[in-house]
Amino acid sequence: MIRLGVNIDHVATLRQARGSVYPSPIEAALIAESTGADAITVHLREDRRHIQDRDVEMLRELLQIDMNLESSVNDEMIAFALHIKPQEVCLVPERREELTTEGGLDVVRHFKQVKYASDRLSEAGIRVSLFIDADFLQIDAALKVSVPIIEIHTGHYSNLLITSEQQCALEQIRSVASYATNQGMQVNAGHGLHYHNVQPIAAIADISELNIGHAIVSRSLFVGFESAIREMKKLMLDARK
Ligand code: PXP
Repeated sequence: MIRLGVNIDHVATLRQARGSVYPSPIEAALIAESTGADAITVHLREDRRHIQDRDVEMLRELLQIDMNLESSVNDEMIAFALHIKPQEVCLVPERREELTTEGGLDVVRHFKQVKYASDRLSEAGIRVSLFIDADFLQIDAALKVSVPIIEIHTGHYSNLLITSEQQCALEQIRSVASYATNQGMQVNAGHGLHYHNVQPIAAIADISELNIGHAIVSRSLFVGFESAIREMKKLMLDARK
């Protein structure tokens, strides 16, 4: 069974755009939970452009399914994660000027900082995941950090329009996922996945979970949040048949 982590950041983006109290990411998370989401993912960015600290606190109190908190390795953010104690923290790179998380964490280059953050979280009983590109060197570095989970950045695959290039990117994700699971790690994937490109990724048996946000929140404008989640989950499950 492949799991769906619903990322609700962009419900908060819409709220922040007008400084209103709606739409509520909390309401969205609870609807997602009752609709069959396997986890709720939120990225508390250093610039607080969408999800706010209070959202994360409330989600931690209310959710019955796992919360996957995406965080940079910055000390202030790690201290907040330790205060919240979600079931899972996914360490991601963060640049203030980017539109979204545009590349994976460079674990090779920032090994010491990543290891320090990861060790602190693990000691608190939090499962740690590293958001990395589909690159064997990054997997080896993640193994040295001793994290149980990696999340493969599917943004490159998602952005490619030429079929042969997308096929190549898919092959790379498939071999990296197989390598990582053979080394005992859980492999998740996400970023840029939508209703028309999710199935080849969901079909990779070595992938345990997909984290998807923008496409689901966007589709919910037209079909409602529950249907948008159900449609995505069905595509994922059908890809495994
Ligand atoms: N996984 C990670 C680690 C992310 O940073 C994001 C974007 O916040 C996603 C998954 C979801 O990406 P998208 O919103 O494009 O589905």
